[in-house]
Amino acid sequence: MSGATNDNILRLDPRPSLRLGVNIDHVATIRNARGGDYPDPVKAAHIAAKAGADGITAHLREDRRHITDRDVERLGQEIDLPLNFEMAATEEMLAIALKAAPHAACIVPEKREERTTEGGLDAAGQHNHLAHFVRALKDNGSRVSLFIEPSTAQIEAALSLGAPVVELHTGAYAEACNEGNADEAASILEDLRAAAAFGTREGLEIHAGHGLTFDSVTPIAAIGEICELNIGHFLVSEAIFIGFHEAITKMRALMVAARSGSGRGA
Ligand code: PXP
Repeated sequence: MSGATNDNILRLDPRPSLRLGVNIDHVATIRNARGGDYPDPVKAAHIAAKAGADGITAHLREDRRHITDRDVERLGQEIDLPLNFEMAATEEMLAIALKAAPHAACIVPEKREERTTEGGLDAAGQHNHLAHFVRALKDNGSRVSLFIEPSTAQIEAALSLGAPVVELHTGAYAEACNEGNADEAASILEDLRAAAAFGTREGLEIHAGHGLTFDSVTPIAAIGEICELNIGHFLVSEAIFIGFHEAITKMRALMVAARSGSGRGA
């Protein structure tokens, strides 16, 4: 949809070691609170591109609480960066993804009653249900990832489903950091490190995301096997105080510092 090919990903991303996908969902959350046209998530995607994002991430939820079908269409028409389309494994979302043909499709669990994507996909338990979605999206040319908890069983399930990418859910780690629970954060970080190492050894591309902030991103960005972080809610929140461009620039700088070994806790 974005016209992104492997060639232009390489052209757009001079730092392939750790990409930043900016999630613009919550720009749409604020717009939808009043039902008008602003703030426009597509305008936010343009700003993200100028600020150095490597991709745009958007989740079209079943209840359309933030991103709408029209936003997805406009992202495809107006934004040159690769689009990472987050979607539930439903026939409705599959039809939209097949038509939009985004660069990447990330399959996430979705429950109407949840506030955000709480917990990873049960790739192991839902193998038979997911196989059809993974195959159809891959055949349509999208890079498929599964949003999973950092566990060996889930990585093995992703492998058996033929998904080339997994995105490790960092939500529990980020929450432990926010609550000042250092032991819990350290323990989940170990699971994330182990999962990233195991997945890489088995040939998967490893992404991570959910709940990351300026304070929690560094140890995650320092995990050398991770090649993409998807971050949204905090960047949109921080935009209120320092602007969206500045928030993205600062997050990117923290990621680069962590990867070069000069970040805190790296
Ligand atoms: N990755 C996935 C798969 C997600 O579902 C989300 C939330 O939509 C994110 C990353 C970004 O999470 P946050 O908005 O908390 O940064």
